[in-house]
Amino acid sequence: MTKTTDWTPDSWRAKPALQMPSYPDAGALAAAEETLGRMPPLVFAGEARALKRQLARVAAGEAFLLQGGDCAESFAEFHPDNIRDTFRVLLQMAVVLTFGATLPVVKVGRLAGQFAKPRSADTETVDGVTLPSYRGDIVNGIDFDAAARVPDPARMVQSYNQSASTLNLIRAFAQGGYADLHKVHQWNLGFVADSKLGERYKDLADRLDETLAFMAACGLTSETTPQIRETDFFTSHEALLLNYEQAMTRVDSTSGDWYDTSAHLLWIGDRTRQLDGAHVEFMRGIANPLAVKAGPSSQPDELIRLIVALNPENEAGRITVIARMGADKVETLLPPLVRTVEAEGRSVVWVCDPMHGNTEKASNGYKTRPVDRILAEVQGFFAVHEGLGSHAGGVHFEMTGQDVTECTGGAQAITEANLSARYHTHCDPRLNAKQSLELAFLLAEILKDGRDRQPKRAAAGR
Ligand code: PEP
Ligand code: CO
Repeated sequence: MTKTTDWTPDSWRAKPALQMPSYPDAGALAAAEETLGRMPPLVFAGEARALKRQLARVAAGEAFLLQGGDCAESFAEFHPDNIRDTFRVLLQMAVVLTFGATLPVVKVGRLAGQFAKPRSADTETVDGVTLPSYRGDIVNGIDFDAAARVPDPARMVQSYNQSASTLNLIRAFAQGGYADLHKVHQWNLGFVADSKLGERYKDLADRLDETLAFMAACGLTSETTPQIRETDFFTSHEALLLNYEQAMTRVDSTSGDWYDTSAHLLWIGDRTRQLDGAHVEFMRGIANPLAVKAGPSSQPDELIRLIVALNPENEAGRITVIARMGADKVETLLPPLVRTVEAEGRSVVWVCDPMHGNTEKASNGYKTRPVDRILAEVQGFFAVHEGLGSHAGGVHFEMTGQDVTECTGGAQAITEANLSARYHTHCDPRLNAKQSLELAFLLAEILKDGRDRQPKRAAAGR
């Protein structure tokens, strides 16, 4: 990456910064930033470069990106079982996609740092009482209580510590044998296993076992082949709370580039992508792979300017555009963006977030998302890319390994009345393990069908 000379890790401070808390205690804020600045990096620059190389393959249509995890991690839900369950559903989904669609899958978690939340309003009013909005556990507390809602910088240090232990467990799972492909049967979760979906997964795992036995007969085993024994797993979150991100930003001694070491990939949210704003300023100077959310208000010329600002060299794998239009808008709003980016010759990874454009309020007040709307947006996204001859690079889900009842529908047929049973999210409604796996099977079919049609398209001169 070429050096950005007029940039410093704190140059964002001179720009307008939306969605950031105002801390009442400047001394405590400086102390927390100083503490974080002395902490070990969570990720190594070489890993971020490895992810960028893998994303370059996705941009070229040679791999698929699966990004998923909590809307918001929380201190209360921090438990090794939650981390394991989300990790293993992501592994199950990846295996369904890899095996079903014969395409390498790049796995990126929304975890080990996904704490800060943008809000549609600065304040929240309940029964005539108005308090500052909850902005994620890294900023303030979720309880509707004046003391809890005061932004507390010590929460950044707690978030760092929680991210470090989360990532430590994930690394152990990814490299220590848990992710070995011989374990596919054991990844089946209790409440998924005893269902039709569990059976479908078991069939796939049986076929994979046969393939592995054949490969072993050819001399490729867990001992000889690290790709069977281990997996690459990367972390990501929205780079919203810039005090935290700046404190985690360090010069990489091997390249001389600045890296935000809080995660491998950082993204800019739909509410903070202003070209002259603090978030874009911060992100343009770090060498990590980046993503930008593009919602319904995203305009083609604006998106191009953003891409140029963040990736002036047009480096492959540097920029991922995560479209989150809504099922009924994706087929009208996405094509102008794709056409313009392709016409300008800009290399991007196109990803579909079918969650954030399909949130609705159930009649009983719960925020929810219907699984059929989520699937409809994914299908619309693939149809747009197939129509334009561009590559649908991946998906971005809010999901958990737990048996929650937050999104309606799916094979389990969760109704609005069921939502209250196990509604645990600290922010947006997540797919549960069954709904996630169900989507993975549907995605594998979409990918496979698309690939089967490709030779015909080539023959037809497209
Ligand atoms: C999110 O990813 O949780 C989020 C807030 O998304 P967006 O910026 O697309 O609204
Ligand atoms: Co969300």
